[in-house]
Amino acid sequence: MNEVIENIKSRRNTKNFENKDVSVEDIKTILDAGTWAPNHRDTQPWRFVVIQKNESLREKIINGIIDLKEKDSGKMQTDEQVLSIKNSVMTKPVLIFVYSLVDDNPIVSEENYGAVCCAIQNISLTATSIGLATGWSTGKISQIDNLKSLFELEENLRIVGVLTVGYPKPQPSKKRKKVEDVTKWI
Ligand SMILES: Cc1cc2nc3c(=O)[nH]c(=O)nc-3n(C[C@H](O)[C@H](O)[C@H](O)COP(=O)(O)O)c2cc1C
Repeated sequence: MNEVIENIKSRRNTKNFENKDVSVEDIKTILDAGTWAPNHRDTQPWRFVVIQKNESLREKIINGIIDLKEKDSGKMQTDEQVLSIKNSVMTKPVLIFVYSLVDDNPIVSEENYGAVCCAIQNISLTATSIGLATGWSTGKISQIDNLKSLFELEENLRIVGVLTVGYPKPQPSKKRKKVEDVTKWI
């Protein structure tokens, strides 16, 4: 199998990471690959916010997730639930919040979103090629209120996901449907 195909097939969405730091150089390498994604009209619509492991801003992210969960459930989080959220956010190696530029023209916004998804795939494949892995989340962490003001982002942006980047623990294999099952030849 050629290297590109092998890389594509071995990339796995990852949630369990080794307790090992990722270098700034590697983070820059994968983000640079992200910026080489296709994008229509040269909008280059990707915006990244990198939060490293011991960054105090993680406390605010934890509080944001707790607030959101309490708002959704109408109940206070128990001490155990709070501890679980804290552990989950604090132990994640590198967090990259990925945004897409929103345009007055909804068609351009949709193209931009597509381009940023391509950027995420570039980032993930490049990470895989250097022994790292990524986990893409559109869960609570990406839905926290006022994230953009917390990060002091002024452009009109929509979140595309939060990527956790780190050295993966062994992961289960995945399957895909056969091409014949998803393709109509005419
Ligand atoms: C737009 C998008 C949003 C996703 N959001 C989440 C998420 O919130 N939580 C999660 O565990 N995985 C999330 N994933 C990862 C998928 O669940 C994962 O890609 C899928 O299980 C297939 O696994 P693989 O990527 O390892 O092949 C997301 C993937 C995409 C493309």
